[in-house]
Amino acid sequence: MKTTATAPSNIAFIKYWGQKNQLLNIPLNDSISVNLDNLFTTTTVQFDPKLKKDSVSIDGKSEAKEVKRVSSLLDTIRNIKRSKEFAKVVSVNNFPKGSGLASSASGFAALAVAATAAAGLKLSEKELTTIARLGSGSASRSIPSGFVKWEKGKDHSSSYAHSIHPKNHWDINIIAVILSNFEKKIGSAQGHAMASTSPFYQARLKNLPSKIKDLEKALIKKDLKTFCGIVEQESLEMHSIMLTSTPSLIYWLPASIEVMKLCQKMRADGTLVYFTFDAGSQPILFCMQKDTKNVLKNIKAVKSIKKIIVNKPGDGAKLTNKHLF
Ligand code: PMV
Repeated sequence: MKTTATAPSNIAFIKYWGQKNQLLNIPLNDSISVNLDNLFTTTTVQFDPKLKKDSVSIDGKSEAKEVKRVSSLLDTIRNIKRSKEFAKVVSVNNFPKGSGLASSASGFAALAVAATAAAGLKLSEKELTTIARLGSGSASRSIPSGFVKWEKGKDHSSSYAHSIHPKNHWDINIIAVILSNFEKKIGSAQGHAMASTSPFYQARLKNLPSKIKDLEKALIKKDLKTFCGIVEQESLEMHSIMLTSTPSLIYWLPASIEVMKLCQKMRADGTLVYFTFDAGSQPILFCMQKDTKNVLKNIKAVKSIKKIIVNKPGDGAKLTNKHLF
């Protein structure tokens, strides 16, 4: 059977940074995110008894490191199905991969949904989030719809993601500002492993539970100022951990800082707009939909912007019949 799935990228309000179990991608803290409706991966999978190995194409390329990660998730699915059949996998992203826009989240969520369906497995959403998590932790949050919480759990089955609000809970825009199309040199797997070398990491873990409670309350109330105040602080905190890890991780570009300062200026001028970053240089901005036009007008002053993609909170991963081969 040939099956195709699409899955959105997601951006975390509360970040996942640091792992309890590297093999299973079990995090040291809960995280909360929203799906981005205009940044997504589409993946078609077909298991084929004639294949001698997995055939994997991602954005037209077949890089050994990526093929290995895809095959490893396919192995998990083959083990559940008790099958030895290899698969053909074709995947495309509608945005630059590996540059800090969570392409591994959308990629592994789409792969988990397409490959389990292609294998004829009927899994619950909760189980799908745990399988996607094995490919990339944050991929677990790209399976459910809208605003999503990933419970850190303590083992494979208890570390899962679920929707906490539907996509229409709040009419915010999430604006991805693409400053660089280059793939980052240090991926998140290496970053997670280094997190605990920061002298500030234990303080972060200690303070997170109360921060998460405050953020969840502000999300229920749709209180943008309080909510995004926490979101910005959280992003700066994660980057402080990165900056103070050994070796130090510096993901920002000069223009990343320019955008942060511009957000502060826009706020001083009366427009409520806030920023966050993943493990990369691209700022992601939050504002109410009614303010987007004004934010876009201001942000265009930053010369090195390559592209701007405006998103709304989006659906989770789903099957489609628009196959890629
Ligand atoms: O899922 P990973 O291993 O690519 O880690 C993602 C980590 C961040 O994007 C930096 C934060 C997050 O919660 O998405």
